[in-house]
Amino acid sequence: RDSKVHQNLLEDHSYINYKSNIENVHIVKERLGRPLTYAEKILYGHLDKPHEQEIIRGSSYLKLRPDRVACQDATAQMAILQFMSAGLPEVAKPTTVHCDHLIQAQIGGEKDLERAVNLNKEVYDFLSSSTSKYNMGFWGPGSGIIHQIVLENYAFPGALIIGTDSHTPNAGGLGQLAIGVGGADAVDVMSDLPWELKAPKIMGVKLTGKMNGWTSPKDIILKLAGMTTVKGGTGKIVEYYGDGIDTFSATGMATICNMGAEIGATTSVFPFNKSMTDYLGATGRSEIADFAKLYNKDLLAADEGCEYDETYEINLSELEPYVNGPFTPDLATPISELKKVAVERDWPLDVKVGLIGSCTNSSYEDMTRSAEIIKDAAAHGLKAKSIYTVTPGSEQIRATIARDGQLKTFEEFGGTVLANACGPCIGQWDRKDIKKGDKNTIVSSFNRNFTSRNDGNPATHSFVASPEITTAFAIAGDLRFNPLTDKLKDANGNEFLLKPPTAFSGLPTKGYDKGENTYQAPPADRSSVSVKVSPTSDRLQLLKPFKPWDGKDAEKLPILIKSLGKTTTDHISMAGPWLKYRGHLENISNNYMIGAINAENGKPNTLKNRYTGEYGAVPDVAAAYRDQGIKWVVIGDENFGEGSSREHAALEPRFLGGFAIITKSFARIHETNLKKQGLLPLNFADNAAYDKIQPEDSVDILGLTTFAPGKNLVLKVHPADGSAPWTTELTHTFNAEQIEWFKAGSALNKLAKK
Ligand code: F3S
Repeated sequence: RDSKVHQNLLEDHSYINYKSNIENVHIVKERLGRPLTYAEKILYGHLDKPHEQEIIRGSSYLKLRPDRVACQDATAQMAILQFMSAGLPEVAKPTTVHCDHLIQAQIGGEKDLERAVNLNKEVYDFLSSSTSKYNMGFWGPGSGIIHQIVLENYAFPGALIIGTDSHTPNAGGLGQLAIGVGGADAVDVMSDLPWELKAPKIMGVKLTGKMNGWTSPKDIILKLAGMTTVKGGTGKIVEYYGDGIDTFSATGMATICNMGAEIGATTSVFPFNKSMTDYLGATGRSEIADFAKLYNKDLLAADEGCEYDETYEINLSELEPYVNGPFTPDLATPISELKKVAVERDWPLDVKVGLIGSCTNSSYEDMTRSAEIIKDAAAHGLKAKSIYTVTPGSEQIRATIARDGQLKTFEEFGGTVLANACGPCIGQWDRKDIKKGDKNTIVSSFNRNFTSRNDGNPATHSFVASPEITTAFAIAGDLRFNPLTDKLKDANGNEFLLKPPTAFSGLPTKGYDKGENTYQAPPADRSSVSVKVSPTSDRLQLLKPFKPWDGKDAEKLPILIKSLGKTTTDHISMAGPWLKYRGHLENISNNYMIGAINAENGKPNTLKNRYTGEYGAVPDVAAAYRDQGIKWVVIGDENFGEGSSREHAALEPRFLGGFAIITKSFARIHETNLKKQGLLPLNFADNAAYDKIQPEDSVDILGLTTFAPGKNLVLKVHPADGSAPWTTELTHTFNAEQIEWFKAGSALNKLAKK
């Protein structure tokens, strides 16, 4: 147990710290005097000060020391720009950057990649040189999607990592706690500051039985999303247990953990088991699996008798495939009922496009099972009725399925194999088959299906399902098709039932083919590396510090916008074409809240400037207020900022002069991001105030001179109709240190001072 084992095959400076993790766990166990869940062991094993840290699930703030950081290219730009402004010579923790989000799907893999490399040259050069300068690993365009690369190379049981992307939890499939954060959190860890997380509650999900037929791991999380809703996991870690977990692959577990983000969970995790050993072996990391076995009982499994804050149970033997959507991933419909529901709700029945792959579902197993279904259809003379796209998760997956024939099967079926990147999953899709505004249905094996996410068309009904079901829909071309019961007609008009894909271990029998080498390690001598940011660039802009708080209560602030209903990070800072400005705060701020619905007129991106009476776009009005020295607030509904970890959704309102975002409730990452940028995320103590407050009212935020943890602030509302002002209380989740961020103007200002 005392050996020094490397965290991965690529770095010679990072080791697995089981020994210190277990020491911390023993300290905490003695203090708490109770058995621990597996997730708790990982968390508490990474505490900065296990002797004195207050630990109350759901309330205390844990200070943690994660093992590593992973950033995707869209979020890495701002994280690195922030890291640079703190003036440190190199990152304190192993960090990698992955080029996956900026590649648009147009024609197909190679051509799209070539175009992206030209189009994003400036950004890729910045990321490549800054990672070299500050001692980080760089995965260039074409290498694959961050979460797949992490799973293949960096994830190991018992680790704690943070990633600047919402689907970082994917790595829970290899038994680690992997948490999606904003760039500002990544900067903390890269700068050797302890990273803070509100101690999550633990949701236990017991899996029993064994899947069969058309059911696959994706269906577990699709069903769970229906049971818990998109808010059910907020502030919680989902920990799986029960006999059922040993019946499927590590990549299947990764799919489930990946999509835990859709129920708002902090992360999801499976305890160390045989499937993980097999996957570690297949990816050249048997030494890690052997090392983990030595710590299996005491560190890498839950203690007997541990207690969960809430529990769910799913019997895999009875589980049927699910199709979730449209517009939200928790609208779960079992395949047996889909026909009826789709007709009743007037969902477009033609499946225009079936998309498989993404970080959620592009394992070798997923590809193989999908290819198996296609081969069966092809044997009956059928090809794809819908447009069919395949996004391999990594170069390793692409090369392996190219070698083993699945890729050819997809192409013969009529499918298009896209670049190893996010593509249509994040709106990087030059969709040509319909016009914007056309009502239509697409089905994907991705994770997220908010309005406009995939193709920028609000009329697209986007459904998420397993790759197997997505493929079956692409064959039938119809949302009413149930492959378990419905027959298709072969080329001669004879009816047949598609064969369900056969059970499969998830690993290639010939091993993985690594494909092209797309990894760039940092050079040993980094002194001569220079990082350039052109002052005239429209993609990258060095950051200027935000102003500190002026020490006064805020009075007579206009409401920039009262947003109606769901306000996700896609509404606050839209992706798609805007992704290209992720490194340029001024330019990307032109998308602030353009997707949110204005309660005043029910429309997006048109609101009244309170001072001129003229209507304008949200970012224009915000900038006009700022330029006149007027601070403003936003009023929002429930779970405000759900969706991605996009810190721009917090940087933009700060850049545009915002002061407070007042809502019924926040999504966790967005709330923390707002605090980091020196804004005030506040909640109505009484949600009735949301309805009472009118878009043209102005507000005071009182109590800031005595701002303290757990102490409510006061909102005084001055109605626009001249009636008497009224007050209501505002709750908040700021702790003492976060209040210092607010006072300093941002967390980074505070860091630079130190
Ligand atoms: Fe990329 Fe979609 Fe995953 S945007 S990281 S493939 S969730």
